[in-house]
Formats: sequence, structure tokens, C-alpha cells
Amino acid sequence: MTSALGKDLLDLESLTPDQIRLVLDTAVPFKEISERAIKKVPALRGQTIVNLFFEASTRTRISFEFAEKRLSADTVSIASSGSSVQKGETLVDTARNLEAMRIDMVVIRHGASGAARFLADRIESNVINAGDGTHEHPTQGLLDLLTLRDHFGSLEGLRVCIVGDVLHSRVARSNIWGLKKMGAEVAVCGPKSLLPYSIADFGVTVFSRVEEAIEWAQALNILRLQLERMHAGYIPSLREYNRVFGVSRERLERATHDVLILHPGPMNRGVEIDSDVADGPHSVILNQVTNGVAVRMAVLYLLAGGRPELAEAAKGGGER
Ligand code: CP
Repeated sequence: MTSALGKDLLDLESLTPDQIRLVLDTAVPFKEISERAIKKVPALRGQTIVNLFFEASTRTRISFEFAEKRLSADTVSIASSGSSVQKGETLVDTARNLEAMRIDMVVIRHGASGAARFLADRIESNVINAGDGTHEHPTQGLLDLLTLRDHFGSLEGLRVCIVGDVLHSRVARSNIWGLKKMGAEVAVCGPKSLLPYSIADFGVTVFSRVEEAIEWAQALNILRLQLERMHAGYIPSLREYNRVFGVSRERLERATHDVLILHPGPMNRGVEIDSDVADGPHSVILNQVTNGVAVRMAVLYLLAGGRPELAEAAKGGGER
């Protein structure tokens, strides 16, 4: 049976607005499960899910694990260190060996752009992209959309600016695709050296001054400077970056309206975002993390063939 999302979730570029809305709407009833004393329902009982995390992660890995366990799936998590990948086993051989043990889904994070699709084309299990190189991070994009929709009520016409290291950011790509499909206006802001050469092709407004971006936007999604992916001198120094592009309380206070603050994490405090902004009254950074579990529950449920109209009923069977 093909699910409402198809076989895999690899990106937001190929999802329709209706599919994106379906995930967000399905996540809403799942939020309540995490607020219960016993956070478990039987919706995915009997499903076996493998989390392959070949790149560092805190939020995404743990959030997927919680989502799977709260839906009663059987799960195994594997990192490259300690697995036979260290002995030279390929990604496909690893996945095929796991399939021989009769798994149902693979969640993969990988440093190479395209790794999730490469795997999805070669195995029968459902594949969920948990971030591949600089390509996409679809569940992060979805949880950002849910957090914005929770706050503003609608994404239609919402002005969102993505600030910082867009060049290396899979989160930026998923946000741009997702927000534009849902009718939001999207802008980016950062040093030219950290914007893709083809940024105009994405149909976004480009701001070169963060003050202009703050004045325009209703929400800022502030990106981490991905120093580990920078193999050249993209910025003069972290101090210089903070001085010119850092989002500070002083800069936000100069705006004529309140601006909602998002950040996918992990944060470089004092570089792209100051602590009093990250922990300030307009920050929804921890709401994003909370929503991440519900969004991932929704994606797992839908890919497993769960019927959206039964998501409310799927919450039953657990103890409140
Ligand atoms: N936002 C995000 O992907 O965080 P992690 O790298 O900790 O998973």
C-alpha cells in the first residue's frame, strides 16, 4: 500500500502543499501524547525501524527515537563508529543486511548530499532523510513550519527571513521549499560568501543588511555558521560576523514590531545569535524541539500507511 506521502520522505521540494499540510495536521493530535504520564500508544506496534546516524546529531536522533518509541515501534540506532562501516562496508550493503533482518523503515543522517535518495532507490524499506549533506533536512523544515503555524495561525503571506550560512544549510533549503509551497514570503540574509550563487533561482528576496531583514520579517530563522563545512575563508572572523550579521537584542529592539526567533540548533551563542535573544521572550527555539517529536511521529505514522483521519483514534490505547 502506498502511503499518502509515497514510499519515502527525502525532501520538501517534491512534496505537494497538500502533503505538507497533511503532515502538519497529523502532528497536531500527536503532540498531546508527549504530555501524558505514560507517553506511549500502539500505532506502530510490530514495525521495526533502524536509525542510521552517520553524522553527529542530538535533536534529530533523539527526537526520532522518542517518536518511534512513543508509537511503540521496535527501534535500533546505529552510528558509523562501532559499526562495520568503519571496516569499509558500504551504505547499501549495511542497509541490505538490515533488510535481511526484516526491517520496515530506515531513518538516515549522512554527510553526503543525496545519500538518502541513493539508499531509497536501492532498498524496499521506507527511507526518511534526517539530513543529507547540504541538500535537505525535511523533518526540520516541517517542524519549523508547524512552529510558525502554531504562533501565527497561518503560513499564507507570512514574511520569514532565513539569516546566516545559507550556503551550507540543508535546513535553509527545506525551509525555502516548505515555506514557499505554503504561501509564505521568504527572504535570506547573510554575507555574499555564505549565500548560494544561484539563490535568486529560489525566488527569495535577498537582504545584505541584517537590520533591513529584521525590519521586513515577522520571523527570523537564524542558522548556525557551519564551520565544519567551511573549507575556505568565508568570513573574516567570528567576531566580525557577529558584529555585522549577529542577531542581538539591540538590533531587535530597533525594529518597529516584534519578530519571532527560530533556530534549528545547535547554536553558536555570541556568533549568529546572542544569548538574550536565544533565551528571550520572542524565542520559540525550544517549541521547535518539542514540535520535532510530534512532526516525526506524524511522518512515521503516515509512511507506515496510517490513515490521517484516524490519527486522533491512533492516540487511543495508551494511558493518559
Ligand atoms: N537541528 C538539528 O538537525 O540538530 P541536530 O544536528 O542536533 O540533530
